[in-house]
Amino acid sequence: MTHKKVLVADRIAKEGIDVLRDKGYDVDVKLDLTEDELAAQIAPYDAIVVRSATPVTRRVIEAAENLKIIGRAGVGVDTIDLDAATERGVIVCNAPTSNIMSAAEHTMALMLACARQLPQANASMHEGKWERSKFLGKELYEKTLAIFGLGRIGGLVAERARAFGMKIIGHDPYCSPERADQLGVELFERVEDVLARADFITVHLPKTPETIGMFGPEEFAAMKDGVVLINAARGGIYNVKSLSDFVAAGKIFAAGIDMFEEEPCTGSPLHEFDNVLLTPHLGASTHEAQVRAGVQIAEYVSSGLEGSIVPTA
Ligand code: MLT
Repeated sequence: MTHKKVLVADRIAKEGIDVLRDKGYDVDVKLDLTEDELAAQIAPYDAIVVRSATPVTRRVIEAAENLKIIGRAGVGVDTIDLDAATERGVIVCNAPTSNIMSAAEHTMALMLACARQLPQANASMHEGKWERSKFLGKELYEKTLAIFGLGRIGGLVAERARAFGMKIIGHDPYCSPERADQLGVELFERVEDVLARADFITVHLPKTPETIGMFGPEEFAAMKDGVVLINAARGGIYNVKSLSDFVAAGKIFAAGIDMFEEEPCTGSPLHEFDNVLLTPHLGASTHEAQVRAGVQIAEYVSSGLEGSIVPTA
């Protein structure tokens, strides 16, 4: 009997791979493939599992002779060509709740680290210095936090920020007044109204043509002086050039950025500033989130391969 073949093309938790093997699939783990390599090797596979590092492009999908399902061990499916998959009748599924808590906690970590200048203080200590007066921070308490995007992750951030005593405002055309009330968020229709009020801003938006570059020179100019900006959602939502211009001009107290338009990103204008805290796409990088994502996507991929219903992305 031939077994269905699953290609795992990014690092996922061993627990997820075990689920697939226990169900009797032939699982190959092949990491760091280029698009050329993936296109050349995809033909025999019935399913592919990826995280964000390996794009599943039209070229890859068209080279995939047996492919029935693409599993994304995480939330965002912006690295998968959904049109090409739909044209070929290939299911695309994700693990939509697997890493939301980790992403929300990473957002809080960035916010606190920015507010208290932890990276700079840590670097100074490691240089053998003792600079107590240099690192004067800000409290979160009684500050206004603006959340753009009140989906699952934005909602978790709102709940956590409330526990810090922050006032929360937000903008999200898809958020109902009932949900905003439940989260304790005052909603504004106009982006400018939010920008003018916020001491801290965090974005929890998907990558779409509307959200990329959503914050440019005009939006930065409309913000309060001394604002703290966080992006643990998708690279490019804050236009990088404008953000670095406004950091250089001293308008922005600090920024915490976990996502980049091109990844891996080892150099950008933002790398020049001590008060821009950079992390390499770590929002989902916790043991708990990775186990959840691996197991959830393995279950969905298996359902798809066996002809059962799969919640599609
Ligand atoms: C996601 O979309 O879930 C994140 O980018 C997480 C990841 O791939 O590490």
